[in-house]
Amino acid sequence: MAQINPSILSADFARLAEEAKAVEGADWLHVDVMDNHFVPNLTLGVPIVEALSKATGTPLDCHLMIEDADRWAPQYVEAGAGSVTFHAEAAAAPVRLAREIRAKGARASMALKPATPIEPYEDLLPELDMLLIMTVEPGFGGQAFLDIMLPKIRRTRELISKHGLELWLQVDGGVSATTIERCAEAGADVFVAGSAVYGADDPAEAVRALRAQADAVTASAPWACGH
Ligand code: DX5
Ligand code: ZN
Repeated sequence: MAQINPSILSADFARLAEEAKAVEGADWLHVDVMDNHFVPNLTLGVPIVEALSKATGTPLDCHLMIEDADRWAPQYVEAGAGSVTFHAEAAAAPVRLAREIRAKGARASMALKPATPIEPYEDLLPELDMLLIMTVEPGFGGQAFLDIMLPKIRRTRELISKHGLELWLQVDGGVSATTIERCAEAGADVFVAGSAVYGADDPAEAVRALRAQADAVTASAPWACGH
C-alpha cells in the first residue's frame, strides 16, 4: 500500500502539534530540515524535532537538507525521528552514516537531488531502508513537479527489483493529485506532499485521496507484485 507523508513545510509553524493532528491518518510526518547552506532556505532543527516527536503519535520522517550530514544526522535519531534521510551530496561517508542511523534505531534513507544519478549508488542500496528521489530542486515547497525525474524513478525501481531489496522509494516535490499517478506508475511507493495536503480544505481527506490514487495505480504495477 502506498504511504503518504505530508510535509509540514506547508503547515503553520506556530501550530505544529495541531497541524500534525490534522493529518492523523498519514503514515509519516515529513519534516524538512534546512540549514541555509545546502539549500537557500532555513527551517528548523533538533529541538523542534524533539518537541514534535513528543507531541504526535505519527512517526517523523526527517529530510535533512543540510551540509555535514555525517555530523548531524545521528542527533535527529536521538531527537525521536523514526526515519532519517541525508543527501548523497552532503554525506562524506554514506555507508558509515547509514549504518550509524540504523544502529541508533531509525530507518536510514538517502536522497538524490535532481541532477544526481542513481547508478553510482547501486552497491550501496542494501545499506538503506529508503531512497528519496527529489522531483524538484530542494529548498522550497509549492514548486512544479519535474517530469524528467520519471526515468530515474523507473531505473531505481528496476535496481531495487534486480537486487530483491526491501527498499522504499520516496518522491518529494510537486506531488499532487495531478502528478502522483505518474510517480506510482514509475515505481514510487512513498509520497511526500506539502502544498497538496496542507493547502487543501481538508488535509486528512487529501491524504486519503492521494493514497487511493496511488494504490489504484500500484495495484496493477508489475513491480508491486508481492507487496
Ligand atoms: C522541498 C521539500 C519538500 C516540500 C514539498 O525541498 O523537501 O518536502 O515540502 O512541498 P510540495 O509538496 O509543496 O512540493
Ligand atoms: Zn522534503
